[in-house]
Amino acid sequence: MISEHNQIESTTKLVPHRALTEFYPAPAQRAGFVSDLFDRAARDYDRMSGVIAFGTDRQYRRSALQRAGLSPVMRALDVATGTGLVAQAALDLGIAPANLIGIDPSLGMLAENRRRRSIELVQGLGERLPFQDSAFDFVVMGYALRHVEDLAKLFAEFHRVLRSPGRVLLLEITRPSSRVGLALMRFYLGKFLPLLTRLGTRRHDSARLLEYYWATIEECVPPAAILSSFAAAGFSAVQRKSSANILSEYVAVKK
Ligand SMILES: C[S@@+](CC[C@H](N)C(=O)[O-])C[C@H]1O[C@@H](n2cnc3c(N)ncnc32)[C@H](O)[C@@H]1O
Repeated sequence: MISEHNQIESTTKLVPHRALTEFYPAPAQRAGFVSDLFDRAARDYDRMSGVIAFGTDRQYRRSALQRAGLSPVMRALDVATGTGLVAQAALDLGIAPANLIGIDPSLGMLAENRRRRSIELVQGLGERLPFQDSAFDFVVMGYALRHVEDLAKLFAEFHRVLRSPGRVLLLEITRPSSRVGLALMRFYLGKFLPLLTRLGTRRHDSARLLEYYWATIEECVPPAAILSSFAAAGFSAVQRKSSANILSEYVAVKK
């Protein structure tokens, strides 16, 4: 775990993973590298998401939102909306388009999102949400925790923009704890799928995104650190449910 005390803001900074210098030269270049990578791979993203999850990705997002208590009367924010797979799941569950906003730093991902549905989409970062306090009943973030600069800032922002009572759902892929599971996932996500993507699409950027995706999963801070960072941001009833200890659903409540 990489963590450090930030005395100016008197919060405990929690960086989700070490600097991955095999992909970008130094931490200052990380956010630009990530945005650029998603911009370039945006057109292949939905297909890759389906392949990674053996076609279960859309149904899984819907079920996770239901389990977390999303209801059609809520006003919801989809942080890291990307091409909109989580946003679409929320719409499928009856959230009105006017009650759903998506935010993401990648213009390429936002453009794909905009082509498919009409909800309000904003360019921006989870760590600096351009919304007023207490603006939402429900905040969701799918598979993007590993891309933020600081989990403490992210969760403080989630807490600020939520009303009381309000809820957060965070979806993540967690590094397997067994050696066999880790070896299998390293091969599947880190080697096999990038190769398949390189051969199938001839697009180096989409394959590179998958390699980066796996590197961030392998290096990500453990679930216990994520749970305690939620609690430190003021959330209650913080829980993690998981399938096969790999697909993680973190739910936290602002009372
Ligand atoms: C793996 S995609 C997930 C997209 C969507 N949530 C889903 O479930 O398919 C990760 C997204 O996180 C976005 N992202 C990267 N850094 C971010 C940040 N600091 N704050 C919010 N989103 C970020 C990327 O641009 C990308 O669209």
